[in-house]
Amino acid sequence: MAEPILELRNLTTVFPTRRGEVRAVDSVNLALYPGQILGLVGESGCGKSTVLLSILGLIARPGRITGEVLFDGHDLTKLSNRELRQVRGKEIAMIFQDPLSTLNPAFPVGEQIRESLRLHNLLPGPSFWPLDSGRRRREKERVLQVMEEVGIPAPEARYRAYPHQFSGGMQQRALIAIGLACNPRILLADEPTTALDVTIQAQIVALMKRINQEHGTAIILVTHDLGLAAEFCDHIAVMYAGRIVEIGNVDQVIENPQHPYTQGLLRCIPDLKERSPLQPIPGSVPDLTELPSGCAFGPRCPEFQPVCAEGFFRLQPVAENGQRKAHRSGEVHMARCLRLTAYRIPEDD
Ligand SMILES: Nc1ncnc2c1ncn2[C@@H]1O[C@H](COP(=O)(O)OP(=O)(O)OP(=O)(O)O)[C@@H](O)[C@H]1O
Ligand SMILES: [Mg+2]
Repeated sequence: MAEPILELRNLTTVFPTRRGEVRAVDSVNLALYPGQILGLVGESGCGKSTVLLSILGLIARPGRITGEVLFDGHDLTKLSNRELRQVRGKEIAMIFQDPLSTLNPAFPVGEQIRESLRLHNLLPGPSFWPLDSGRRRREKERVLQVMEEVGIPAPEARYRAYPHQFSGGMQQRALIAIGLACNPRILLADEPTTALDVTIQAQIVALMKRINQEHGTAIILVTHDLGLAAEFCDHIAVMYAGRIVEIGNVDQVIENPQHPYTQGLLRCIPDLKERSPLQPIPGSVPDLTELPSGCAFGPRCPEFQPVCAEGFFRLQPVAENGQRKAHRSGEVHMARCLRLTAYRIPEDD
């Protein structure tokens, strides 16, 4: 198998708060391979956005990151801000959670896509004022091409339109266009479809899939919707209270879920054929300053046993067809639960 294009090793992101330290991301290990689509799934407050922001070094002080973020073998956590700006947008683009707060209401959409190109100076010629007209024309051509590619109709006419003149779906397309302008190798998409109705949601997902297939762009899709991840992703990592509790390829995680949290999320997906009643997971994500001892999901878990509150459990390989698969990167199915472990470890892994 190819080398991962992005690898998180023991990534931990801590925010000091008045009520104590919040470990929003706790010892996360993940590998993203070229062309892969990885879903990062979990309820609100599980730390999904913080993982993406940590990858790009966008955690403001006093928040701090430990561990490694290896992109093409280079540790991004060691780079200066200036060096990081070269990576952001050009190599790794991010689509933020809320389109309207990301788009600048005071500038035409086309100009905002062009700005993304200019920041990285991708087209030949001087990028400072006065721009030569040839360069301006080439930039605009590229912007129109990207607008067309993400399905914004009549791009020439809409180049000068302002964000408020776009519908929600079109704003989301514009954000994807900004992300794609520099042809990045990785797209980090944070809940890109949450604010949209289902038909538009399906179109945006189809668009991202096409981008993935045509350009080989690797994607991390953050979503609280396991159903969406099941449809769209090759691999799924389920997060709970800052930790990965289950990870594997989509068939493993959806067909043979091992962690009671994953099983609970699956029971929350509507089944239109069966019309079986949804079974919500009781309770809510714990306050990260007051985590329960042992497994953080314990207080909500239907299979809770006293031993679950006593220590942490490592991610363990899941036995498929009675056999524990050898560890092949990206392929192994793992879960962090008492059910899978014969032994307990007293400390963090
Ligand atoms: N700057 C910060 N300071 C303090 N706590 C923070 C900060 N940013 C995030 N957190 C906390 O970290 C935890 C994870 O937040 P995060 O936004 O990553 O969750 P999420 O999974 O993306 O949730 P959602 O689905 O609601 O977007 C939350 O408990 C949040 O309150
Ligand atoms: Mg979020």
